Formats: sequence, C-alpha cells, structure tokens
Amino acid sequence: MDGKALEFVILTDTHFLPRGGTMYGMDPRARLDAAIEVINRDHPDLEFVVILGDLADNGERAAYENLADSVSKLAAPLVLMMGNHDRRGAFRESFPKADDDGTGFIQALRVLPQASILTLDTLDEDGNTHVGILCPKRLEFLERSLHEAPKDRPLLLLQHHHSGKVGLRSMDHYNVRNAEEQWAVFQRAGRKPDYMFHGHIHRPIFGLWHGIPYHIQRGVNHQVGFDLDTDDKIPGSLEGPDYALVRVSTDTIAVHHRQFLYEGPSYWLHDADAVSGRFPA
Ligand SMILES: [Fe+2]
Repeated sequence: MDGKALEFVILTDTHFLPRGGTMYGMDPRARLDAAIEVINRDHPDLEFVVILGDLADNGERAAYENLADSVSKLAAPLVLMMGNHDRRGAFRESFPKADDDGTGFIQALRVLPQASILTLDTLDEDGNTHVGILCPKRLEFLERSLHEAPKDRPLLLLQHHHSGKVGLRSMDHYNVRNAEEQWAVFQRAGRKPDYMFHGHIHRPIFGLWHGIPYHIQRGVNHQVGFDLDTDDKIPGSLEGPDYALVRVSTDTIAVHHRQFLYEGPSYWLHDADAVSGRFPA
C-alpha cells in the first residue's frame, strides 16, 4: 500500500432548494457553504468529498443549479450520489460529468492505493417511493465490483439508504427494500464490504449489519430526532450538523465527526482558567 493515508470527507442530505429557499427555518445553501469553507480551510489534502444523496429536497432543476454554484467553491474533487429525494434527469442537467455506470445509474467503483470506494445508487425513481431499491442491473454492478475491487485493500461501500433495520421505526420503513438480495450478492461473491456508509436517516447511528460495520451520518440541513418508537411520523430536530473525515491507512479505518458550525470556546483541557470555566476569547 502507498505510505500515505487516504483522506476523504462525507457530507449528506443537503436537501437543496432553489436559491433563497428555507426549510425548518434554515437555508440549505448557507449550511453547505459553511461546511465548504471549513473543509477548504482545514483539509487541503483530500482525495474527494462525497455527498451521500438527498442533494435536493424536491429534485428540481433550480435546486441542482443552486447546488452546482455552491460546490463550485469546493477545492477538493466532488462525488455526488442519489437519495430518495433526487431525480436523475434534473441532476444531470447541472452535473453532466457525474458518475454513470453505463446503464444510467449514478454509481462507480474507484480503486485507490489505500482502499476501493464503491458508490451505489439506491434511488427508486421508477417506483416513486422513498425506499431504497437495488434492481437487477444494480445488483449485477455490485457483484461485478466486488470481484473487480483488489483483495489486498479494504472495500468501502457508500449508499444513501441503510440496508439493515436500525431500530428507529419511522425510518426503518424506508431502508433498502431488497436488502436480503444484497446480502445474497455478498455471499455469492465470497466478499462483503469492510465498511458501509449511509445518509438518509439524518442521525448518527453505528452498528453491524450481517457483521459489516456501518456508519450513518447526520444531515447537513435538518436532523431526525431521537425517538425510536413513533411509527407513523418522522420526528424532527434542530441538532447541529456535522461532517465525517474518513482516514484509511495500512491497518486502520478511522471516522472523525466534526461539528462545522460549532462557535463555542476552544481551550486546553489542563488550562487552570478553562478548568474553572474562564475561557479564552
Ligand atoms: Fe434526507
């Protein structure tokens, strides 16, 4: 393996609106602009930044135009993925160079020296539902990618929807509907990803699905509240957003969360003033 660690940043669920639009009192554009400013300043050496889908809230052209203008300020290469709120045609008008697997799905396998990055398109645009779907073409792409990705480095799988149920009932209605077919592909290929990353739930949740570690990232705009039991409506909250910095080195995959809107004090833990509650300006 190359001696240098792989570093990339994950953002998700930007839910863009046409310019000036707000949702739950927040402008998704202002949120992403703030994240980009921090990422450009603090992470000059990224392989890429990925947004794990729900790029736009209603999938309309003007929202993607607004997004294209915002991300034009990002210094690192950008990977964009589909979520249940997205529409591929309108998206491609603003992002004609986005990934295309050759059958129209916005997904790709990137083989890098430290890891392979597989991005899967789980949007059910034909069914017009909010669940995740892996149709036969996408399952085939997944299986081919599992064989193509070199065995000597980790394989990270990124997809908008979570595959296994996480125990948050209102959102567990909207996981990958045919997740067991996905698991069957892993079994047939004799290989499963080393890590899975999702958006969609707008809450930080970590666990294992069939022994595969997964990471679910907060949304850039709004969050889902901590209410595991309500079944028929989705709880909302205004908890702060974050991004994840993922580092892959020879023997380690580490995922760091950063609250990019945090404006409170920064101090040294053993500083006597700080210990007694007096923080530097
Ligand atoms: Fe979302």
